Amino acid sequence: MSEQTTSVADTAGDDLAQSTSEASLRRTEARSAEIEAQIAQDPTGFRVMTGDRPTGNLHLGHYFGSLANRVRIQDAGVETFILIADYQVITDRDGTGPIHERVMGMLADYLAIGLDPRRTTIYAHSAVPALNQLLLPFLSLVTDAELRRNPTVKAELEATGDRPMSGLLLTYPVHQAADILFCKANLVPVGRDQLPHLEQTRVVARRFDERYGRVDPARPVFPQAEALLSKASTVLGLDGTKMSKSKGNVIELGMDADTTAKLIRKAVTDSNRQITYDPENRPEVSNLLMLASLCTGRDPVEIADEIGDGGGGGLKKLVTESVNEFFAPIRARRVELAADPGYLIDVLRKGNARANEVGDATLAEVRAAMNMVY
Ligand code: TRP
Repeated sequence: MSEQTTSVADTAGDDLAQSTSEASLRRTEARSAEIEAQIAQDPTGFRVMTGDRPTGNLHLGHYFGSLANRVRIQDAGVETFILIADYQVITDRDGTGPIHERVMGMLADYLAIGLDPRRTTIYAHSAVPALNQLLLPFLSLVTDAELRRNPTVKAELEATGDRPMSGLLLTYPVHQAADILFCKANLVPVGRDQLPHLEQTRVVARRFDERYGRVDPARPVFPQAEALLSKASTVLGLDGTKMSKSKGNVIELGMDADTTAKLIRKAVTDSNRQITYDPENRPEVSNLLMLASLCTGRDPVEIADEIGDGGGGGLKKLVTESVNEFFAPIRARRVELAADPGYLIDVLRKGNARANEVGDATLAEVRAAMNMVY
């Protein structure tokens, strides 16, 4: 166990900035492809952890961007932890809002898409004390300057307008490091915007090892977690911009077929009746074609050829059918699940209990490394 004090390096901000540079992004992408190959060979070497903020219902952008990937990884045999990040809801807003409904809704979405509670641990921040307690030693390992430079914190601060930054918003990357490290996850499927958090997590794990030492001299208490960037294409909203609830351009997983049809009817297209797949020049039309492609497994160019000069109307009809057909079984399961709140709460309680077991074991090791076992 190391007795000497190590100062917090002041270069981490640069590391964080670098983690989003083009070259570094290419390396992360290449590494993700390697990891995918390793998973296919032997899934047991990985523990995956990821999660979502329960601030609204999950939508098709989430599904094709990350949720489908999680199910795939689970089905490949990788042990998976999925966090409903309820404490992260209050980083940038006053109060918890309809949190109970949102947590239950998110859980219903997760189960409906095929996350299986027998194989995947689903739990909430607020129910896992050991996870939250890791925040204390972890905060000793970062400087406020470093946190202020975190690109994701900066972006989220900007998004909240003139709202003063809360202490929780400033420190939430460290809390997110605790999310990942409490279960010693070594693989985190995330979008690009979350890469600075991953770098921060590695920095925390490294500094913990340098400053507080080990229990087993052969290995650090915490692993170096890697990002797994999903190959999935981004689905935009119905107006061709980022799919986001606040823009009203979203199709939610749990919406019914009629609502879906109505929303797609209002989607933005252009005046050219000949439908072509041309993401560069016709982003809205191409996004709708991509959505149909993801739902049918067909090539978007082939779909465009089939619609031919059918115009926006023909395109929307095909997209509506594709989306409604693909999501019909998921939606039917979701309706059943939502009608059984007793089952949902039982799944969450079991997930919480398992997360507590894992978190308590990690915290015991942390106390031992820090000489705080009394
Ligand atoms: N910040 C993530 C998001 O907004 C959610 C999240 C919380 C998360 N804790 C995590 C993702 C840990 C990956 C790992 O999407």
